[in-house]
Amino acid sequence: MTLIFAHRGYSANFPENTMLAFTEGAKAGAEGLELDVQMTKDGEVVVIHDEKVDRTTDGKGFVKDFSASDIRNLDAGVLHKSLGRKERIPFLKEVFEWLSGNSLICNVELKTGVFRYKGIEEKVIGLIRQYGLQDRIILSSFNHYSIVHAVSIAPEIETAPILAEGLYMPWIYASSIKAGGFHPHYRAAHEEIIRQSLQHNIAVRPYTVNKESEMKRLIHAGCTAIITDQPKKAAELREAI
Ligand code: G3P
Ligand code: CA
Repeated sequence: MTLIFAHRGYSANFPENTMLAFTEGAKAGAEGLELDVQMTKDGEVVVIHDEKVDRTTDGKGFVKDFSASDIRNLDAGVLHKSLGRKERIPFLKEVFEWLSGNSLICNVELKTGVFRYKGIEEKVIGLIRQYGLQDRIILSSFNHYSIVHAVSIAPEIETAPILAEGLYMPWIYASSIKAGGFHPHYRAAHEEIIRQSLQHNIAVRPYTVNKESEMKRLIHAGCTAIITDQPKKAAELREAI
């Protein structure tokens, strides 16, 4: 069965990358969550998509220039003001604490593109081991150096390079860097690529699948999971197939 991963939580209806969006994603029927991590100046791994806090909070500036305690004072609920509640930027350890009480899968995307937070792979892997979540976390990144580094220090944790462009034979690429899967843009997830990848034991989790026709196509094709802002819609469509 194709699993449903709530992208940044249930981000279509709730403030992305917040505990509210994660708990609502699970309630909506997702078996997994996708979230993004960056690091504060004092080395706390925090859950936020952008390198700056400007778009998703009431603050301004780079995550790397905030302390962990200062970043917690920001309101991360501003993208869904109509909900009328303040949300905090979660610490990754807080999400892991919650995950240790349920059975959800979690795709942690390492946002190491521009600043390449030094030591973030070690910190995230340390937390995964501390909470005993080795079997339920998938580490992904657009930065494939980060993936190779994660594999070298924690071969027991599944990894997946994110592919911005289509590759000719992505399952061979994923195998060559010892990743358990890859996360393609949904438009590059052709049926034959999915079929060959699964046959080679390589997981395929396309992002960000919000169109109903694409959800149906990728579920029919047997993708390992789809990553979507709309987990409720995806769960309903899967049920009807
Ligand atoms: O993991 C897939 C997807 O989340 C990558 O794009 O920008 O939403 O993090 P972005
Ligand atoms: Ca992401």
